[in-house]
Amino acid sequence: MSYARVIGTGGYLPERILTNAELVKMVNTTENWVETRTGIRERRIAAPGERTSDLAEHAARQAIDMAGISPQELDLIVVATTTPDHVFPSVACLLQDRLGIHNGGPAFDVQAVCTGFVYAIDVANRFFRTDACNKALVVGAETFSRIIDWTDRNTCILFGDGAGAVVLETASEPGIVSSHLHADGKYHELLNVPAGVSANYEQVLKGEAYTQMQGSEVFKWAVKALGDIVDETLQANGLTKSDIDWLVPHQANIRIISATAKKLNMDMDQVVVTVERHGNTSAASIPLAFNEAVRDGRIKRGQKVIMEGFGGGFTWGSILLIY
Ligand code: COA
Repeated sequence: MSYARVIGTGGYLPERILTNAELVKMVNTTENWVETRTGIRERRIAAPGERTSDLAEHAARQAIDMAGISPQELDLIVVATTTPDHVFPSVACLLQDRLGIHNGGPAFDVQAVCTGFVYAIDVANRFFRTDACNKALVVGAETFSRIIDWTDRNTCILFGDGAGAVVLETASEPGIVSSHLHADGKYHELLNVPAGVSANYEQVLKGEAYTQMQGSEVFKWAVKALGDIVDETLQANGLTKSDIDWLVPHQANIRIISATAKKLNMDMDQVVVTVERHGNTSAASIPLAFNEAVRDGRIKRGQKVIMEGFGGGFTWGSILLIY
């Protein structure tokens, strides 16, 4: 059985920056409220006409360049997204075509909202573990701004757009050490877009299929689930807190991130934080943060990294990897 290891990372943010100062003109909030309650100062918004596949392609090409491979060598593409270009085909298939790969290996999307990238890495890793693939592209990409009601102060302050990517290659040692995935659909109403193709389609037609959230309930659940998943990850691998070099958390709220870091006895300088500049980019947030810390030299070869995420569903999970 083979393992998967990361050989390239990439990230892309749309050009348009939306600051808290601008949000104050749109909804009844203050710059101070948003920054102190969430840690967010600004977020990026995709241009009109800019699609999830466009963001994904930028991030993917960077990751492929760093890996030093040709796109044709990829025999698996998995894209984590909740905001695909179309109902179908998948963003992964659109991306495969953009990358000039034809008659290639499997390409498909994974939808687990903000835990999407963690789920996608887990799925891709299983291809490596069964020797079903040699090189894989795993992307998290979102245009979440398209499913936000920009008059709802409960949600519009939180989210942004972006994409992050990794290229994985087969290896004789991990790489991806373990993954831990969970879901509990009982809580689907606490965080959702209650419209789609087969339910409340009229809201989609009116352009009113928006994210709804019971923020404080989600907050409590996220802190608990992310704390538990850290324990589960350490126990499964016989590790202690001090064995972990880096935490790359989903970037939803600095207070959720700090609570998980505390649980790991980690200083915040061992935690990769982008939430102040990116907001919550859902499935893109973890690979965007990972890419930043790899490219600026913080995360070094041989170091142990925990990625962890929480999102609608509810879904939550973690990845332990050795970079
Ligand atoms: N600006 C100003 N006031 C706001 C506000 C805003 N944007 N949004 C809510 N408020 C108000 C509320 O109306 C409430 O007022 P009240 O006390 O008069 O009723 C007060 O602020 C506190 O609201 P509450 O929802 O308890 O605040 P909070 O501290 O929980 O922060 C969130 C709200 C949304 C920032 C926080 O709950 C959160 O981050 N939740 C998790 C969100 C998340 O991570 N979602 C995605 C998961 S992947």
